[in-house]
Formats: sequence, C-alpha cells, structure tokens
Amino acid sequence: MTDEIYKPGLEGVIAGDTDIAAVEQTSLSYRGYGIGDLATKTTFEEVAHLLLYGELPNSSQLSEFRSTLAQYRALPPELVQALRLIPTDVGMMDVLRTGVSMAGHFDPVKGDSADDLRRRSVWLMAVTGGVVSARHRLITNKEPLDPKPGLSHAAQILYQALGEDPDETATRLLDLTLILYAEHEYNASTFATRVVASTLSDMVSGIVTGIGTLKGPLHGGANEAAMNMLLQFDSPAAASAWIHEAFVKKHKVMGFGHRVYKNGDHRAFILEDELRTLAAKKDQMNWMEIYDAIKDPMVNEKKIFPNVDYPCGLTYYLLGLPVDMYTPLFVCSRVTGWCAHFIEQATNNRLIRPRSRYTGPAAREVTPIGQRS
Ligand code: SDX
Repeated sequence: MTDEIYKPGLEGVIAGDTDIAAVEQTSLSYRGYGIGDLATKTTFEEVAHLLLYGELPNSSQLSEFRSTLAQYRALPPELVQALRLIPTDVGMMDVLRTGVSMAGHFDPVKGDSADDLRRRSVWLMAVTGGVVSARHRLITNKEPLDPKPGLSHAAQILYQALGEDPDETATRLLDLTLILYAEHEYNASTFATRVVASTLSDMVSGIVTGIGTLKGPLHGGANEAAMNMLLQFDSPAAASAWIHEAFVKKHKVMGFGHRVYKNGDHRAFILEDELRTLAAKKDQMNWMEIYDAIKDPMVNEKKIFPNVDYPCGLTYYLLGLPVDMYTPLFVCSRVTGWCAHFIEQATNNRLIRPRSRYTGPAAREVTPIGQRS
C-alpha cells in the first residue's frame, strides 16, 4: 500500500473531521467558543446544548432543554433494583457501565433521527447523573432520593447523592468541572464511541463503550489515580521524596502529561486557580503544599505539565466527594461530548477500520494433530 501510515497509538494522525471542538497547544474551543469564555460565562446545561445542538441556547431554549432533562431524571425502578443487586465493593465506573446498559432496555426515546439522537443524549445526561447519585446513596446505606425540581444539573447530582441542598461553592465548582470535562475532540473514549457509531450500532452501545474506555488510568481514571497518589502523603517532604523516587524509577505520574498538550492543559490552568481559592477558603492550604510538591518538580525538572485530572481530583476531594465518584462525574460531563460525536459520525459516516502491521510467524503449513509434538 503506497499511502501506508504507521503511527503507534495513532499519535498525531488526523482520523477525521469534526465541527465540535478544536484542541490546540494555544487554545481549546467548543464550536468556536474559547474554554475560558465558556467557563466564566455559561453553565454546563448551556454547554451541553451547544455541543448537541451546535449553538448556545437563548433563555427559552435553555428552559426547554432543562425541562427535557428534568422529564428524564427519575430512573426506571427496575434499574434501581439492578443497582441494589451489584455488590457494594464494585467500583462506581463498573456500576455506571452496567447502569447505562440496563437503562438502555428502558430507553424512552424511540427512533434514530438526528433529533431523536439529541433527545436520547439528554436522556443519557439524566441517566448518568441519576445512576451516580443513586448508587452513592445505596452504598452508604441510604435510599435513593427523588429528583428535586428547579435544581441545575450539577446541583441535582449533588443533592441526590448527598441528600442536602449543595452550597453555592460546591455547585459552581462541580458545574465548572462539567464544563471543562465535556468535550475534547478525538480523545480515546470519544474515538471509541465514534467507532461504534461508524458501524451503525446504537447510541447506548456507544456510550457504554465510552465509559469502559474512559475508566483507564491513562485516560479519565487519572483523576481518581491522582487523588489516591496525593492521599499517600502526610507532608510536602514526603511528596517530594516520592516524586524524585518516581523519576529514578521512571514511573508514570497520574494527572500529568497529555498526548496533545505539551505546554500545559488549558483546563488545568483554569481549574487550578479555582482549587487554590477553594483550599484557602476551607483553610486546607496544607493540601496545596503537597499538590505543589509533586507538580513543581514535574514542571520544572521534567517539563511535564498537569492535565485537567490533577487539579480536578483534589477539587472534588476538598468538596467532600468520595474518590470512587470522580471518574463517574467525568462521565456525567463527557457523555455530552460522546453523544455529539456519535451524532456527527452517524450523520456523515464512513466505517472506521484502520490497518495493522503484521509481525507474527511467517507462513507455515498445518501439521495434523496426531503428528504435533
Ligand atoms: C485525559 O486525549 C485527551 O484529550 C484526554 C483527555 C480528555 O479530555 O479526553 O484530556 C483526558 O485522559 C488526560 C490524561 C490523563 N492521564 C494521565 O494523567 C495518566 C498519566 N499520563 C501519561 O500516561 C501520558 O502523559 C499520557 C498517556 C496522557 C500521554 O502519553 P503519550 O502521549 O503516549 O506520551 P508518552 O507516554 O509517550 O510520554 C512521552 C514521554 C515519555 O518519556 P520517555 O519514555 O520518552 O523518556 O513523557 C513521559 C514518558 O515517560 N511522560 C511521563 C508522563 N507523561 C509522559 N512521565 C511520567 N509521568 C507522566 N504522567
């Protein structure tokens, strides 16, 4: 094949077009809007509408979007029953994978037009948030809570998980992380979802695939892995000793590095500023000293920068959220990006099927079984 390209991990390969996000060294934008602008001037529901419908909503479109979301919030009782059957030690990402798959048997949206797919996307936003909240209640020996009318998506997730109206800071910071996590062009989980769409399979299969892909610690699972790393340390000195040992052993440090960003992750810069403010407000600057004891050598000695997952893990921790919920919250956001890409692929499709380079045994004849050693 004359036009053969060989790039392990498809590094740097342009595998398709997209109108949804542009990820560059110098900027990140969703449908032309800069991430900094979105972070300071919109809410997650507005960003979800932008990703799914192509435009930021006006007030009436936003209230219609939110009422559609509210219409889907109550989980089917059969799904809640299934969540009760899953052993309590099963991780929340595995529960979410099962929960979305089970929810698919009760999909209220019929049809597969682009509008049906957009409505199914909104339903999946409600399902993912609902499963995370209900599961947290069940594993803490509490009954799942009914949705509370009038809350934003972020506030609803917190309310239904924690059983109380969340404070303004927690709501605003969760909403910010949902905006930052929503979309990132052809990352591993989104690309996997597009592969599913390219075979003309269904959207629920695509989202279950996205969940399974995001779980890995080299991808979305890094926010939990980064927090579990920080939880090892009782002082900045301990963290500093650990990171320099990691350099010697060439260990991968979770929450750092990125396949595209080589001078830092725009989202990490935005979130880290908020994290520092949160830590000061909660009088937990000791955590920032440990955070910096890992970050500073990575940046100054290795030129490897934090990605969004590094500040996000500690942000969620300081908000009092259980570590096992962090990557599921990433799903509650990225489900919008996955669905937008599923729709984009399905409406302008070419089966995604790359080639591989064969490195196995040379051609050989079969020996009849009686003569095999
Ligand atoms: C997300 O793609 C996306 O957009 C993903 C994401 C999204 O929004 O969808 O941004 C979300 O997944 C963020 C990434 C979360 N993952 C982690 O934090 C896991 C730790 N990071 C690394 O595993 C790594 O940085 C990757 C996987 C993220 C990117 O790896 P690459 O592009 O394959 O780069 P590489 O592993 O080849 O590293 C290049 C060099 C290597 O050194 P050498 O072997 O050449 O000497 O940099 C080193 C690596 O060892 N390096 C690291 C490192 N990341 C890169 N060394 C230590 N710790 C790290 N985290």
